[in-house]
Amino acid sequence: MLNFEFKNPTKIIFGKNTIQQLPNQLPSDAKVLLIFGGGSIKKNGIYDEVKAALANFEVFEFGGIPANPEYEILVQALEIIKKENITFLLAVGGGSVIDGTKFLSSATLFSGDNPWDILEKGIRTDVGLPFGTILTLPATGSEMNSGAVISRRSTQQKLGMGGPGLFPQFSILDPKVIQSIPKNQIANGIVDAFTHVLEQYMTYPTHANLQDRFAESILQTLLEVGPIVQENPFYYEAAADFMWSCTMALNGLIQKGVPTDWAVHAIGHELTVFFGIDHARTLAIIAPSHYRYNFEAKKAKLAQCAERVFNIHTGSIEEKAVACIEQFEQFFHKLGIQTKLSEYTEDYLGTAERIEARFTERGMLGLGEHKNIAPSDVRQIVSMSY
Ligand code: NZQ
Ligand code: ZN
Repeated sequence: MLNFEFKNPTKIIFGKNTIQQLPNQLPSDAKVLLIFGGGSIKKNGIYDEVKAALANFEVFEFGGIPANPEYEILVQALEIIKKENITFLLAVGGGSVIDGTKFLSSATLFSGDNPWDILEKGIRTDVGLPFGTILTLPATGSEMNSGAVISRRSTQQKLGMGGPGLFPQFSILDPKVIQSIPKNQIANGIVDAFTHVLEQYMTYPTHANLQDRFAESILQTLLEVGPIVQENPFYYEAAADFMWSCTMALNGLIQKGVPTDWAVHAIGHELTVFFGIDHARTLAIIAPSHYRYNFEAKKAKLAQCAERVFNIHTGSIEEKAVACIEQFEQFFHKLGIQTKLSEYTEDYLGTAERIEARFTERGMLGLGEHKNIAPSDVRQIVSMSY
């Protein structure tokens, strides 16, 4: 096991009807900016519930944060925060709204002239404006981590940011919110969380037995309850398992003491930028090719996953590892998620070369747990996923 430090200060309030507990989590004199997305919360009743809970607070609103939160829109919210002297941000939404709120938390206290520098220059956020979240879509884990991913369409960029100042003060997780999520978005959530586990597990053995088993148990739980919640989002117990699995997949716990990969995400973000493909679907496109291309480096963990997660006990290490990748693909297909780029766009030729060029230009010269996946390797991985 590698050395590590672990601190996660986010308070989780989990369970049925927990949105009612919102007033107790806010400073009594908070001047709140309620931040939300394209309007789903107005249709499913969450907006009304939140507004009722905020009855005794001074509340401003900013709606319209799009999926893959957009910088040009976020800077409009930044103006309101500064003009109205907002003291607390409340994100009500999925990963996009929460990530957008993290950007605003950071940008409000940023001393530089251009907030885009936080992303482009990779400036870490040590202190941000306090914020909390009410999660409406289990998927990203953003509700209990300190990272965010922000897009800028004008420059075709999708970049990450983070720092210890960007943990939510609290996150309210009521599994009933999944009742109104469309089937395709539930599938996205399952695949995103599943791949988060893989990015932190599918590397090489480091004798981190507890972390491995945490990771395997999240995979097993998602395999078990994913298709159930997709079929019946009103089944509360399965919804609760699904929601908590997504949070646990990326709240820092399973990555401690182990090597991590994250190449699938880095490449996947480019497919969102180029084609607007949903985040989770980009992962389903890239992950199988990534594991096939880096087979030798990853086969021990792939075989371990085959045995412990998929109960495949016959065959050589290589055969088990191959079977494991096939199981991933079958699971994604079962959820209705396609795993080839050509199934999403006819315009895929040349994508591999474009991503290779962008990674070279940005100096992303060594991805993966061994930092040895060069842009030319990325080109081959992307070509394999056509
Ligand atoms: O915008 P509204 O109207 O709210 O609709 C949303 C959106 O269209 C809808 N939705 C959310 N909750 C709903 C609902 N519809 C009905 N009922 C509900 N209860 O779902 C759509 C997608 O929402 P979005 O927030 O975009 O999805 P997700 O949670 O998958 O977030 C994706 C973003 O998070 C980033 C991704 O790159 C992407 O930008 N990620 C953030 C990470 C992090 N901060 O740690 C890690 C991830 O790997 C990921 O990169
Ligand atoms: Zn993800």
